[in-house]
Amino acid sequence: MDFFSKENIVNLLQDNPKLVDIVKLLKSDGDDKRNLFLAASEIKSQFVGNKVYFRGLIEYSNICRKNCYYCGIRKNNINVARYTMTDEEVVNCAKYAYDEKYSSLVLQSGELNNEKFRQKISELLQKINFATNNEMGITLSLGEQTEETLKEWQKYGGRRYLLRIETSNQELYIKLHPNDKIHDFETRLETLETLRKLNYQVGSGVMVGLPFQTLENLAEDILFFRDFDIDMIGMGPYIEHSDTPLYHFKNLLLPINERFILTLKMIAVLRIMMKDVNIVASTAMQAIDKIGREKAVKVGANILMPNLTPQKYRENYLLYQNKPCIDEEADQCKNCLEARIHLVGGEIAYGQWGDSKHYLKKQ
Ligand code: 5AD
Ligand code: SF4
Ligand code: FES
Repeated sequence: MDFFSKENIVNLLQDNPKLVDIVKLLKSDGDDKRNLFLAASEIKSQFVGNKVYFRGLIEYSNICRKNCYYCGIRKNNINVARYTMTDEEVVNCAKYAYDEKYSSLVLQSGELNNEKFRQKISELLQKINFATNNEMGITLSLGEQTEETLKEWQKYGGRRYLLRIETSNQELYIKLHPNDKIHDFETRLETLETLRKLNYQVGSGVMVGLPFQTLENLAEDILFFRDFDIDMIGMGPYIEHSDTPLYHFKNLLLPINERFILTLKMIAVLRIMMKDVNIVASTAMQAIDKIGREKAVKVGANILMPNLTPQKYRENYLLYQNKPCIDEEADQCKNCLEARIHLVGGEIAYGQWGDSKHYLKKQ
């Protein structure tokens, strides 16, 4: 039986960690687990400090051309009322974030790749920049797009892009998506490469505790983030949704609190390995544990995404069930998160972009 002190853990994850060692840490329990969390917490204080950055999240539209087996807003789910926010609503959200000194925005939606969508996003970017004095750090999370589209959006002020790889293991990816051209693992990888090439600040991530997923898969995901030199990482527990095909495999899942702990371990290992990246405390963590996001901040996360979406749309953007903040408005989420972060000794960095230090070093 191995014993892991804090020093052992940091040494194991130094330089070129072995897959088996990462797996052991993902399995850790008792004192070993406590030491993993403590080591990550110390590395975090040392390299990124106790500041937490806000990215105001605008869930622009739930219309999606895809049918990911896990997602509640997949195209074939007829139980979802589809919406798209008006330009005015989007601009108002952006203005709110600007006035509240969030400094950063995430514009997210289901994936569409038609001409009209490309133009609409370009237009929205211009309107947002106009309304916020070009001062917001704008992140896009709009799925796989062509190089031309990504270039155009960059021209209009998109600086960062989030595209989760979902799993870095191709065989597992195929089990989670329809096997066709629009759910192609290679295309997803290529899009990440294009984003890198265009010098976007690149965010990616995975779901933790998926059916068929092994600890080795998760350890590979961590090595993938390192090898791909990802700047921002968002990992959240997989939470089943009864209107999705993957729901049939719910008997294969780890109990939900174990998926939660496993996600915390993923965050901790990643923080020790990639000391200067931005790591998100995902909303899905809070769907499981009332103070889930705070726990994520304790063990390494330094980014939070307060929801700005007008309340009337929120119940229609349920990627998973039990999503928190469905009945709240932006203001309530702001006050709530502020109080929560203070509880764990964090400080919200208003008025700062909070770019990934990892990215800035490369510039
Ligand atoms: N549980 C947890 N996360 C999910 N996502 C989609 N569906 C689920 C689910 N059922 C995540 C995906 C996607 C992100 C926007 O939401 O990782 O990239
Ligand atoms: Fe669409 Fe994203 Fe949901 Fe897949 S995960 S169905 S791309 S919104
Ligand atoms: Fe939305 Fe707490 S963060 S209500």
